[in-house]
Amino acid sequence: MAPATVPLRPAKATKSPALKGDLAVPGDKSISHRALMLGGLAAGETRITGLLEGEDVLNTGRAMQAMGAAIRKDGDSFIIDGTGNGCLLAPEASLDFGNSGTGCRLIMGLVAPYDFETVFTGDASLSSRPMGRVLEPLRLMGVQVSAEAGDRLPVSLRGPRAPAPISYRVPMASAQVKSAVLLAGLNTPGLTTVIEPLPTRDHTENMLRGFGAAIEVETGADGARTIRLEGRGRLTGQALDVPGDPSSAAFPLVAALIVPGSDLTLRNVLMNPTRTGLILTLQEMGADIEILDPRTAGGEQVADLRVRASELSGVHVPAGRAASMIDEYPVLAVAASFARGETVMRGLSELRVKESDRLAAMARGLALNGVDCSEGDDWLSVRGRPDGKGLGAVSPEAVVATRLDHRIAMSFLVMGLACENPVRIDDCAIIGTSFPGFMAMMNGIGAEMAEQ
Ligand code: S3P
Repeated sequence: MAPATVPLRPAKATKSPALKGDLAVPGDKSISHRALMLGGLAAGETRITGLLEGEDVLNTGRAMQAMGAAIRKDGDSFIIDGTGNGCLLAPEASLDFGNSGTGCRLIMGLVAPYDFETVFTGDASLSSRPMGRVLEPLRLMGVQVSAEAGDRLPVSLRGPRAPAPISYRVPMASAQVKSAVLLAGLNTPGLTTVIEPLPTRDHTENMLRGFGAAIEVETGADGARTIRLEGRGRLTGQALDVPGDPSSAAFPLVAALIVPGSDLTLRNVLMNPTRTGLILTLQEMGADIEILDPRTAGGEQVADLRVRASELSGVHVPAGRAASMIDEYPVLAVAASFARGETVMRGLSELRVKESDRLAAMARGLALNGVDCSEGDDWLSVRGRPDGKGLGAVSPEAVVATRLDHRIAMSFLVMGLACENPVRIDDCAIIGTSFPGFMAMMNGIGAEMAEQ
C-alpha cells in the first residue's frame, strides 16, 4: 500500500453504438472507508469483501496501518486485525490522504481524542478544501489544532489528556462532519451527541451499531436526527460485504440513458434511501430504470438496476434532495444536456467545496462542449438538446479541465458517448481514486473512450 504520484493522462470519448451488457460496479466508497476504519479499531478480526480498491480507500487503509491495525489481503477479502477501541498508536510519520476528503476528515475525528500528535496532508485538491468544518467541533472537545490559513492542510492535531464529550449541531448537510464527531466520541468518556437538521448518509451510524457501539438515533417531527453515542465501549470485529457504489453506478447508468438503443443491467447496487436521489430524479425525467430483486445484504438495501435508453425531459430538482445525490450532480447535468427542455438544480452550495468547485467545473465544461447552461451561487440550469447535435468539442483544443476531480472526469467521458463531436478531458488518471478500471469497464459495454 505504498503511496503513488500520478501524472496527468488526457482522454477522449466519442459517439458510441448502443451500450449493452451486465456489470457490477466497484464497492461503495463511503462504506469502504468506514469498514477499514472501524475494522482497524475493533478488537479481533474483521473480514471485508467487495472493498473498493480505489486510491482514496487505500490511503485510509495505509493510515490505519500506520496507527497499529494489521491489514492483509486474502483472495478477494481484506482481513484486519484491529487495535481495540481506544488503542490506536501514534503514527510515526504524517498521514497522506491523497485526494480523499472522507478519509482525511473522518480520521481527524477518529484520532482527535488521543493524547498524541497526528499530521494530515493531501494532494493539491484536498489541500485547498476547508477543514474548519471538522476542526471546529474538535476544538470544542479540547483538541489542539494547528493548520494552514483558512483551516487548510497540512493540519496537525493533538488530543487533550482528558477529552470531554460534546453535543454538536452540524451547521451544513455533511455526513463527513457528523461522522468525524461520532468517531471522536468513540474514545471520549460519556455521551457524544450529534444533531443533524438535514439527514445525510447514515453509514457511520449503521456500521457503528454493527460493530457493537452503544448508539441511538432519534428522528424528530421536523426530520432532524439526534444521534447519541456512549464512548469507550467495546467494538468487535465483523464480517462485511460492501455493495456496489451508487455514485459509481451513476456513470454507466446515465451513459445507457443517453446513448440510443442501450440496455444495461447493473448488479448489486447500494439502495440505501440516503443515496438514491439520482435514481428518483432520473425517473422523474422519464428514465426507464427498473429496480430488480430489491433485497437486504450486510444490513444495507441493494438491488439490480436495468436501464434502457430513454427520452428525458427537464425537471426542477428540489434543494431538499441535494444530500441524497450530492456526488451525482455532475453526471445529472450530463443527463440534462440530452433532455428536452430545462433542468434546474438548486441547493448546490456544497458542490463548491468538493474535490473541485463542481458547479464551476460543470458549467465551464458544458459550455465548452456547446451546452446552453447557467450557473448561480448555488444552482445550475441546463437546457438540453436530445439528439446531441452540435454538442461536443469542435476543435481539439477544447479540453475539459478536470481539476483533480474524478467525478468531473467520468461525467465528461460519459457525455462524449452521445455528442455529435468528441469530448476531451485533460486527465483520466484521477478516476482511479474512486473507480479503478472505469474506462475498461465502459469499453466492455461498447463505450468508445480511450486515453490519448
Ligand atoms: C461522504 C460524504 C459526502 C460526499 C463524499 C462522501 C462520506 O461529503 O460528498 O463523497 O462518505 O461521508 P460531505 O459530507 O462533505 O457532504
